[in-house]
Amino acid sequence: MSTAFHFYEPRAGHGLPHDPFNAIVGPRPIGWISSRSKSGILNLAPYSFFNAFNYVPPIVGFASIGWKDSVRNIEETGEFCWNLATRPLAGQMNLSCAAVPPETDEFQLAGLRPAPSAVVSVPRVAESPVSFECRLSQLIQLQRTDGEQVPTWLVLGEVVGVHIARPLLKDGVYDTAAAEPILRGGGPADYFTIGHEQLFRMFRPK
Ligand SMILES: Cc1cc2nc3c(=O)[nH]c(=O)nc-3n(C[C@H](O)[C@H](O)[C@H](O)COP(=O)(O)O)c2cc1C
Repeated sequence: MSTAFHFYEPRAGHGLPHDPFNAIVGPRPIGWISSRSKSGILNLAPYSFFNAFNYVPPIVGFASIGWKDSVRNIEETGEFCWNLATRPLAGQMNLSCAAVPPETDEFQLAGLRPAPSAVVSVPRVAESPVSFECRLSQLIQLQRTDGEQVPTWLVLGEVVGVHIARPLLKDGVYDTAAAEPILRGGGPADYFTIGHEQLFRMFRPK
């Protein structure tokens, strides 16, 4: 075995002080997901196992480790919103991850205002500069290679409405860095933000 690399098989443990997986696959964009229960209680929670998966139609997805309130709500109503978590909203995003009973409205808990959506009935976060209104397209329970199911659900949603704060559109072009998105690193507390200094451009080969 090469000594230049630390190798491990996850089933047998990583043998390190902290599991490096999340720090390696990072920084990850955050799915700040608003949803509403069948009985009308609002819910807001961050999910960093989140990404975009398709362009036309736009599809985003997040994975819930356990059957959490967001997944239950989305299964019940078929709708959710994704909201951009930004540096100014980092503290509120963090407050919204509290493990609280389903009766607790995390908008209130985090001091955020719900703003009405245009297409779906679930509100978005008024303070967030970008939101996607989404309809559930697939809800998939993950499994191991041998077919054994794991208690993790992948929620995929088609984006049916997009809200962008106008100052983020520079001559009509969305300015990613200007939004100051925050991204999740590894460990218990690591986050990253990005600015224009991290930008480099590379065009595809012709
Ligand atoms: C930045 C951040 C990212 C998170 N990512 C995930 C994730 O990808 N999957 C997950 O199950 N929980 C994740 N959590 C934990 C959930 O936010 C937390 O369990 C929350 O209470 C779930 O809320 P809900 O039950 O209202 O859906 C994350 C927490 C934080 C702060």
